[in-house]
Amino acid sequence: MPENKNLSSEIKKQLPKELVEFLRLAGELAQKRGQKLYLVGGVVRDLLLGRENFDLDLVVEGDAIALACEMAEARQCQLVTHQRFGTAKLAWDGGSADLATARSETYAKACALPTVNPSTVRDDLLRRDFTINAMAVALTPDLYGQLLDLYGGLSDLQGKLVRVLHGKSFIDDATRIWRAIRYEQRLNFHLEPETLELVKRDVDYLKEVSGDRIRHELELILKEEFPEKALCRADELGVLSKLHPKLKADDWLSAKYEQARRWSSPDNPSVGLYLALLVYRMGSKDVEEFISYLRLKKASGRILLDAIDLKANLGQLASPQVTSAQVYTWLSGCAIEAVVANIIAAGMPSAVPRLTEFVEKLRYIRPALNGEDLKKLGVAQGPEIKEMLHRLLEARLDGKAATRRDEEALVLNWLAGKGA
Ligand code: CTP
Repeated sequence: MPENKNLSSEIKKQLPKELVEFLRLAGELAQKRGQKLYLVGGVVRDLLLGRENFDLDLVVEGDAIALACEMAEARQCQLVTHQRFGTAKLAWDGGSADLATARSETYAKACALPTVNPSTVRDDLLRRDFTINAMAVALTPDLYGQLLDLYGGLSDLQGKLVRVLHGKSFIDDATRIWRAIRYEQRLNFHLEPETLELVKRDVDYLKEVSGDRIRHELELILKEEFPEKALCRADELGVLSKLHPKLKADDWLSAKYEQARRWSSPDNPSVGLYLALLVYRMGSKDVEEFISYLRLKKASGRILLDAIDLKANLGQLASPQVTSAQVYTWLSGCAIEAVVANIIAAGMPSAVPRLTEFVEKLRYIRPALNGEDLKKLGVAQGPEIKEMLHRLLEARLDGKAATRRDEEALVLNWLAGKGA
């Protein structure tokens, strides 16, 4: 029976020893204080799925801050508390844990911030997004490891279903629509049929949510292993178009994301590169609207606009007459992700070798001589130094100087030419 399921062996097997010791001690201290303590949320889901997750979210029936203070003293952890929310974060070398006082939430109106009251773990789980995220594991020694599955989370994990806890879930918090898609695609689950209907019914509530919160959800998707899966699903469900009506996620985008991973390996592509590819087929006015709706940070916004700008000017690069120094001049002011996005997505193959040359080689090239060296060779102090350094860089870029000696010879030549 699900009620009797005990996860102590999963905890021992899947979590690092240090985290297990932390959980044990926290449970003991809570019991001494007469409190109930639970591990909750994503880590419980992932313990059951056998997926790695070391994000410890703990819920206390009672004062979480007081318990966190005791833990901080007992384990020499750093402690940050938020009295207003009744939450605390403990951090130590190699780990951290969030503690929260169990609470219930009520939403006065759609997508508004909820009213919060201290409560039981039962209520705390009820306020959560999906059944698979609404399970808890008891940590006090009397109940250690026992699964608390009040809303059918285990059975939905087994059935591979993402299911909301109640019919108003997306109205309370429409960002859950994006979260539902993210879990569905990450875990290869399905939206449970009624939940799917609710997504379709409530998709317009996404417009009530601030751009900042939507951006956060989009960034989480772009940090997934295969973000295109969630984006394609969001497109299919009419969710992507709420970000901007002209956005598309399809086979083209999937192929570009695959290429972006190859380009970025062994790292993951940056959020900026993924975003640039997402908006690549839009015009600059639409991209500006997208940036301002999501309130993208200045640096990310620049990547997107540079990518679109460059796309419109690729013709310049395609001509065989263009020198490497010119390529450098055109591209050195661009965000590097914007250049990479064009390598991946440009519809003009003749420009790609020049873009690639810039990313792989030209952008790293520097003259061997510096200002001091130039002075020693007889260049007058002042603007001439900067100008000569620039000429040396151009000579390097165009292959007219390969060594320090070549550069010295060029400088002496220029100086002689000037004097003549
Ligand atoms: N949660 C929620 N509604 C939200 C955000 C979060 O109910 N809009 C709850 C869920 O129970 C979730 C927990 O808060 O499991 C922690 O949130 P988060 O860290 O975003 O999710 P995890 O499941 O821990 O992490 P991930 O999504 O990366 O697996």
